[in-house]
Amino acid sequence: MFGYSSSYRPESCSSPTGQDNSAHRLMIALTDFRGYDSIMRFLITGGAGFIGSEFCRSLADNSYSHYGLVASEITVLDALTYAGTLDNLWMIQDNPNFNFIKASIQDATIIEELLSKTDILINFAAESHVDNSILDGSSFVSTNVLGVVNLLEILKKFPLVKMIQVSTDEVYGSIELGSWNEACSIEPNSPYSASKASADLFVRAYSKTHGLNVLTTRCSNNYGPYQHTEKLIPTLISRLLKREPLPIYGNGKNIREWIHVADHCRGIAFVSSFGQRGEIYNIGSEDEYSNLEVARLLQTVSGIDSKIEYVPDRPGHDFRYSLDTRKIRSMGWSPKIKFESGLLETFNWYRSRTS
Ligand SMILES: NC(=O)c1ccc[n+]([C@@H]2O[C@H](COP(=O)([O-])OP(=O)(O)OC[C@H]3O[C@@H](n4cnc5c(N)ncnc54)[C@H](O)[C@@H]3O)[C@@H](O)[C@H]2O)c1
Repeated sequence: MFGYSSSYRPESCSSPTGQDNSAHRLMIALTDFRGYDSIMRFLITGGAGFIGSEFCRSLADNSYSHYGLVASEITVLDALTYAGTLDNLWMIQDNPNFNFIKASIQDATIIEELLSKTDILINFAAESHVDNSILDGSSFVSTNVLGVVNLLEILKKFPLVKMIQVSTDEVYGSIELGSWNEACSIEPNSPYSASKASADLFVRAYSKTHGLNVLTTRCSNNYGPYQHTEKLIPTLISRLLKREPLPIYGNGKNIREWIHVADHCRGIAFVSSFGQRGEIYNIGSEDEYSNLEVARLLQTVSGIDSKIEYVPDRPGHDFRYSLDTRKIRSMGWSPKIKFESGLLETFNWYRSRTS
């Protein structure tokens, strides 16, 4: 019914220094998008959080119909931890095809009932803040590992359901030069990334052992509207709006690859439609900035000159993340939003919420 093969599949983890992907991007061969034959019932776990809610709002808007993804039902299951809120979904709550269930992905009874009427499961549910995982990793194991294993165990009873596990570039560890492709080994350094890497391994194992139709996406750092204020960019914006100093870990030189949440969700939708069973897909932007550069850019787009305040570094702070995204790009996906314009839009969104 679905599946579009990538023309590029990394066989080994080669991460050439200063690699130029532009020639490859020109070679992108498009595509006989086939997608799904009919409208689908979606179960979105963790759909009240930052990224999951963006996916739900866009799905409800039919924004992914060009990928062949149209929802007949959108069911969100979310435990509504401190990080999730129905405020992120209010605009679609009255849709006749929308349902919300407050529960944990560890609840076997509810998950089984929901999976019996699901075509596509996308799992966003997670404890997602690295700093919290440094303070105490237990809840990260409960949700990010045991919760995912619970989903996979129940999925064994519903082999026709396709599951997308939303993972992160942080599972690869830290890289000084070059970029990780999907064949690179996982070497997580924080309790958060260790829990996400464990989940990735379980997804792989259930695919190999039980033949489940499961896929994994690994994305770089997201930014955009509706992100919890604990994360870097909302923290900096809220400080700017209050004319307070901007806290930056260590020397500010740690580098992240920033992608707008709408581009990430378009990537997930793309993989949901065209990804192959058992495969991993990196989703990234190639927009790399140090934390200090992000703070400076925000000063520029906001026109507010709060001073930078260096704070003690996070223990085990990864220096740099960088994804090789040739696999998904060779299938026809690419991000649309440039960092500076996305940052301005994000700043304006938080400012309008504050005022
Ligand atoms: N934010 C990023 O930059 C980024 C980048 C790559 C991948 N990811 C991954 O994307 C996913 C979503 O990230 P996010 O930034 O939206 O996180 P988030 O913290 O904003 O949202 C997580 C959601 O999961 C829910 N949740 C937590 N535990 C649950 C449980 N046991 N059962 C059901 N729901 C539960 C929370 O209530 C919340 O709504 C995560 O898996 C994360 O690892 C995030």
